[in-house]
Amino acid sequence: MESIYTFFKLFLPKYLRSLPIPKTLSGFKDLTGEDYLNLTPFFFLVLLILYSVFKTLLFGRRKVKKPKINEDIQKEESKVVTQMDIEDIGDNIAFCRCWRSKKFPLCDGSHNKHNAETRDNVGPLLLRREGDTK
Ligand code: FES
Repeated sequence: MESIYTFFKLFLPKYLRSLPIPKTLSGFKDLTGEDYLNLTPFFFLVLLILYSVFKTLLFGRRKVKKPKINEDIQKEESKVVTQMDIEDIGDNIAFCRCWRSKKFPLCDGSHNKHNAETRDNVGPLLLRREGDTK
């Protein structure tokens, strides 16, 4: 804390007082090469701060990219769509909703490993014929 105090209360004011900033714009023409050399870091810092402020105001905060759900199933396709005939489904079927199954779109139990690793709670969509309680 003392170093912050020293910087803002002692070093910074002393540094700013030592800068050869002219009182008027026309005063810049009277500055020497050494004066411009002393002003360069200060103006560079001011420009950097202004750039950061305007960049934030114009473009907003950088958005955090959301992770993909599908890591490796049919990545060559623009959209993964699966069609099945209802007659082919049988009495019970489990559809994967975690996108980790090696038998996608059917569940192969990979959601258990995913849940254990990530503390997630995803599971399959279970379809069963009426009256079947398994
Ligand atoms: S493997 Fe994906 S929900 Fe079971």
